[in-house]
Amino acid sequence: MPATVVIGGQWGDEGKGRVVDFFARDCAVIARYSAGSNAGHTIVNERGRFALHLVPAGIFYGQKICVIGNGVVIHPQALVSEIKMLEDRGVDTTQLLVSNRAHVVMPWHPVIDKLDEQLRGEHAIGTTGTGTGPAFVDKAGRLGIRTVDLVTPEALEQKLRFVLEYKNAVITKLYGGEPLRYEAVRDECHEYGELLRPYIADTAVVAQDAEARGEQLLLEGAQGALLDLDSGTYPYVTSSLPASIAAGACIGVGLGPRAIARVVGVYKAYQTRVGHGPMPTELFDADGDALRDHGRAQGTGEYGTTTGRPRRCGWFDGVLARYTARLNGVTSVALTRLDVLAQFERVKICTGYELEGQRVDTLPGALTAMTALEPIYEELPGWREEISHVRTFGDLPPAARAYVQRVEQLLGVPVDMISVGPEREQAIVTRDIFGGTL
Ligand code: GDP
Ligand code: IMO
Ligand code: MG
Repeated sequence: MPATVVIGGQWGDEGKGRVVDFFARDCAVIARYSAGSNAGHTIVNERGRFALHLVPAGIFYGQKICVIGNGVVIHPQALVSEIKMLEDRGVDTTQLLVSNRAHVVMPWHPVIDKLDEQLRGEHAIGTTGTGTGPAFVDKAGRLGIRTVDLVTPEALEQKLRFVLEYKNAVITKLYGGEPLRYEAVRDECHEYGELLRPYIADTAVVAQDAEARGEQLLLEGAQGALLDLDSGTYPYVTSSLPASIAAGACIGVGLGPRAIARVVGVYKAYQTRVGHGPMPTELFDADGDALRDHGRAQGTGEYGTTTGRPRRCGWFDGVLARYTARLNGVTSVALTRLDVLAQFERVKICTGYELEGQRVDTLPGALTAMTALEPIYEELPGWREEISHVRTFGDLPPAARAYVQRVEQLLGVPVDMISVGPEREQAIVTRDIFGGTL
């Protein structure tokens, strides 16, 4: 059983890119399985600092097969410029493959994304505006254009005539927007089809063959379980199909569920969220600002990788962490940004909620209930000591160890990796997730 899934356990931006870059060393195939260029995964390694939106974070090793799976929606221009950026910086992308079944973010999707948000007014979701949500809507609505269509001009033209007429009717009649020109859209599709042709393949077969050979596959999730369409803080979620949770990984790359051996849940040592929606432990005080602005000067503050928006910050939510660990079948936790907590005299962890006088230990289904949750906190001593240079668990200050152990207890899953800085080697590994000895 050779597949390892890496998922975000909160509202995204937990450090999945950083964790995938780290574990990719031991894997032969690294595949993104959901979402689109709404994702922003930061990697800092010997080649520098990179923000990837579509290309898997395994790309830096050169010889690994990197797959953009059928579950991802692809904005062609975003992908082409990401490949160019990597090549310009000396990263070999010849091992990159793009699923022929992946859906394409078409020119109307970002337009509709923004118009939809305007229409929602005070109920706006705070989307990334990348067109990712509307592309998934069209996938489920059976109006999607796939990468295979981009390289099959006759099929594309036939589909495009019908779909564009439909979309222009929506844009002009529903939103009062400007229609898109058929010839312009067609020519753009042809142009990107030719640029992407060398990468487009039946990637499910590539993944299945690697599985059959017993090679390690790393399946890179995007977003976080609390943004998942089914299990997240609906409707303040993303629209990925398959899900942003681990169960979506097989669907998004074309493997059967028995391929999965382990699930690494990436959790930040505190909570963040971009966009709107409930966030029980959100801080509106100086502690929240301190979490957000730590490392800002070095470019590692809590500001969105995709949109640059400030992230909402709060204390670690043990209730939600346990909720997402169970939903994903998490077998290993990677705890990131522990170094950021070094600045506090005392740190807090939410261990339960109060809702209308009752104790609640999980995420309620109703939005009104989610928004009314009052966190119950446990206070732990801080450590007030830089830990970015620490490489073994035993060398962490006792208070930092106690914090990690409390997180472990609340999740019911071992913390196998602790990240103490954005760079590849700034990590403490307490157990080899692939079963080797340390
Ligand atoms: P992703 O979307 O889950 O891949 O996460 P993002 O890249 O959007 O956001 C995570 C941010 O935290 C990036 O700026 C990373 O470089 C940074 N980062 C990751 N791990 C650590 C860590 O342990 N400490 C610090 N200070 N920064 C980290
Ligand atoms: P990574 O993979 C954080 C959020 C948006 C918004 C909601 C819906 O980097 O962790 P969308 O554009 O998807 O329709 O927006 O989801 N969102 C993310 N937040 N990290 C992400 O990805 C996100 N992808 C979407 O901010 O609240
Ligand atoms: Mg991100």
